[in-house]
Amino acid sequence: MTASFHDRVAAELGDIEAQGLTKPERVIASRQGPVITVGGRQVLNFCANNYLGLAGDERVVQAGIRAQEGWGAGTASVRFICGTLEIHKQLEQAIAGYLGFEDAILFAAAFDANGGIFEPLFGAEDAIVSDSLNHASIIDGVRLCKAKRYRFANSDMADLEAQLKQARADGARDIVIATDGAFSMDGYIAKLKDIRALADRYDALIMVDDCHATGFLGPQGRGSYAHHGVKVDFVTGTFGKALGGAMGGFICATTPVVQLLKQRARPYLFSNALSPAVCGSSLEAIRIAGGEEGDRLREQLFANAARFRAAMAGAGFNLLPGEHPIIPVMLGDAKLAQDMAARMLELGVYVIGFSFPVVPRGQARIRTQMSAAHTFDQIDQAVAAFTQAGKELGVI
Ligand SMILES: Cc1ncc(COP(=O)(O)O)c(C=O)c1O
Repeated sequence: MTASFHDRVAAELGDIEAQGLTKPERVIASRQGPVITVGGRQVLNFCANNYLGLAGDERVVQAGIRAQEGWGAGTASVRFICGTLEIHKQLEQAIAGYLGFEDAILFAAAFDANGGIFEPLFGAEDAIVSDSLNHASIIDGVRLCKAKRYRFANSDMADLEAQLKQARADGARDIVIATDGAFSMDGYIAKLKDIRALADRYDALIMVDDCHATGFLGPQGRGSYAHHGVKVDFVTGTFGKALGGAMGGFICATTPVVQLLKQRARPYLFSNALSPAVCGSSLEAIRIAGGEEGDRLREQLFANAARFRAAMAGAGFNLLPGEHPIIPVMLGDAKLAQDMAARMLELGVYVIGFSFPVVPRGQARIRTQMSAAHTFDQIDQAVAAFTQAGKELGVI
């Protein structure tokens, strides 16, 4: 019995390997940053979601240490039992204030925020209209909810309207449109102005996952909706990317919505509170991101992205268009993406090949990721390495 199970696991792993889809874990022996130590060598890092370069920032690290010294390692409890510390309340107020919402609720990860938002707020009478490229955690969160599901093709406003019309025709009580603010594999920014207009026309709510926008898109880095100058009803996000890079997620919404989530959201009710160290680092990251230094970091980040895009396109690479600091270098074949990433590492640049099931079959890519911490010189070195590897492997 159990032997057949273990044989099946081994066979599936063999299959993944044979298709060139294995995702290796490369071990980093240093802090996260534009230069990291991998395999005993210093290499340039172009794949961390370290948008503002704060993950290794000494002030962010020290704020985490101070918080841990003050509050201990953790609460050894979920929030509602005996796990809410003053620093949790401070972080909820800080993120809600930064993003322009009444209130916020913390989760161990944005994955949990997306997993926990739908089920308490929407029932079988309601409708969720979800973008086809939404993050896996939104898809899972929608699955956990009894609301009727509708899907629209990525950023296709005609299809969104058709789905909204259908949901209304089906008699939905409440409708919520769910979308990533910026799509993590493509770097496309959601068309939130158009989505807002359609939501108004069909009396729908809007939920945005801003994991790849909070901290750097829009004025003061308040996110994709601020970038488009519109309001949305719920924002989910992470402290694990631009805002310090530690971990932890949140939902920002009105006070009553947050209060209801605190009564009903299962990842909040049945999972431990965020560690004080994470809270301390995240608070410091919000302080930096929300101020003038944040403006300077955002300027550098987008200048880096523009420089990389222009040079790579000039070298003949096929890039997905856009302005976001996620810049996918499209290769198509999964094995080619792995080979390219391996060659890039030999050339001193750490990047990762993305393939199915993370992206659709046949759309394998190297998803490069710019940071405000990169210098122009480092950007130019990365482009030179890509150019060499691309020529060797017949990509350009
Ligand atoms: C769009 C999006 N949503 C949610 C998540 C999950 O974030 P976290 O790492 O905080 O669970 C990610 C992380 O990869 C993401 O890219």
